[in-house]
Amino acid sequence: MEKIIDENKQGQPLILDQKKENQRKLFIESYGCQMNFSDSEIVASILAKEGFNTTQDLEDADLVLVNTCSIREKAEQTVRKRLEKYNAVKKINPRMKVGVLGCMAERLKSKFLEEEKIVDLVVGPDAYKDLPNLIEEVDAGRNAVNVILSKEETYGDISPVRLQSNGVSAFVSITRGCDNMCTFCVVPFTRGRERSRDPQSILEEIDELVAQNFKEVTLLGQNVDSYLWYGGGLKKDFEKASDFQKATAVNFAKLLDMVAEKHPKLRLRFTTSNPQDMTLDVINVMAKHQNICKYIHLPIQSGSDRILKEMNRLHTRQEYFDLIDNIKSIIPECAISQDIITGFPTETEEDHQDTLSLMEYVKYEYGFMFAYSERPGTLAARKMVDDVPEDIKKRRLAEVIELQRKHSEYRHQAFVGKTVEILIEKESKKSDAHWSGRTTQNTVAVFPKGEYKIGDFVMVHIDECTSATLLGEAVGYSDNN
Ligand code: 5AD
Ligand code: SF4
Repeated sequence: MEKIIDENKQGQPLILDQKKENQRKLFIESYGCQMNFSDSEIVASILAKEGFNTTQDLEDADLVLVNTCSIREKAEQTVRKRLEKYNAVKKINPRMKVGVLGCMAERLKSKFLEEEKIVDLVVGPDAYKDLPNLIEEVDAGRNAVNVILSKEETYGDISPVRLQSNGVSAFVSITRGCDNMCTFCVVPFTRGRERSRDPQSILEEIDELVAQNFKEVTLLGQNVDSYLWYGGGLKKDFEKASDFQKATAVNFAKLLDMVAEKHPKLRLRFTTSNPQDMTLDVINVMAKHQNICKYIHLPIQSGSDRILKEMNRLHTRQEYFDLIDNIKSIIPECAISQDIITGFPTETEEDHQDTLSLMEYVKYEYGFMFAYSERPGTLAARKMVDDVPEDIKKRRLAEVIELQRKHSEYRHQAFVGKTVEILIEKESKKSDAHWSGRTTQNTVAVFPKGEYKIGDFVMVHIDECTSATLLGEAVGYSDNN
């Protein structure tokens, strides 16, 4: 799920390892998908060893890093606006250096230095371990760029600094890159080919989180169901692996099973799933373990077979329905969410109606919906004309959003009168007398604080709901504490 988050969501400043005496201040902020937020925690860890402490105060920073997103044009515009802000701050803090990380860095490479004079440093998603050298270059007064994509890098050996954590839930990366080549998507170009992380290092990171009292872990990847560890290397090279490597390979179902088995009290989530890679084995493992949350983010993008083909989505509408039917028959209470794009090139009114009718069939719990935004270099940009007028894209988007709102309300209504387990994550944004947490289905629930505290699993009786939130009353601790 690559939700665009337009604000910096960092938590409190942290005092990091102090290996170098000469302390410097790092201001780091992230935009885009969870992978970026997770990568920023890796970057903070790498720079902690170089003597950088994080600060929340931009004006006080020696180094400002912005982890960027290229998924839609608007995401890039948001970053450009931030660069303007840094420019203004640099006038009162001239020692400040500015680095750009993530997908925009990879997409624009050294062009960034020409386009944005404020930028001193450009670092792609696989080059963060080179940051200490690159910063030395910048210290010596030279601009520095490293945008080399890797066949191996998974940052498996780096223990991330939990920058934005509530101390309850954390993200753990398990794969990097994407081999799917959806024609609209810039990610395969900015994050490279798909590779998986050693399960041993994943388990160690999760062990550490459990020891620190974390209660929920989300396994992260562009395409988690495609996870495959056979001793390292790219997913596409698996065919060339030895018989031994093939026989001992760990796929996503196995990884999920291993983690769930080892930590039966830890809530486990994962994102993102792609329909063609989601196997029955994964669904069965979800059903087998009560601690694996009953929620799947399963992007569809379009309900039209013709558009799915143009998008190179590698499955049909019927295959998607079959998958949904399998999920619901094995795990009837499983929540499903979508990503949908409206106004992909050549999309007709009929194609759009197919999307609406597909939504009617599934009745998703949630959705992340977007108007098509042409991305330079993608197959769609090269081979197709962005021919759906902006107002039609927007009108179709509004219809999709409205239908989703109805379905969310319908799904949430089904909780009213039931008692469900909630993991308390934080105080409700609207009231300091209420806690906010989520059901296994990922639905937010809010209820009076009572005797409970953050990190508790509580049973909550749901009295009412909106299209976004369940409202209820805690009736006791759950057995999971
Ligand atoms: N335009 C609009 N939405 C896009 N997404 C990816 N690329 C584009 C694009 N060019 C959406 C897809 C994907 C989600 C992460 O972002 O729905 O699943
Ligand atoms: Fe992009 Fe498709 Fe890969 Fe998702 S699966 S990151 S939409 S190419």
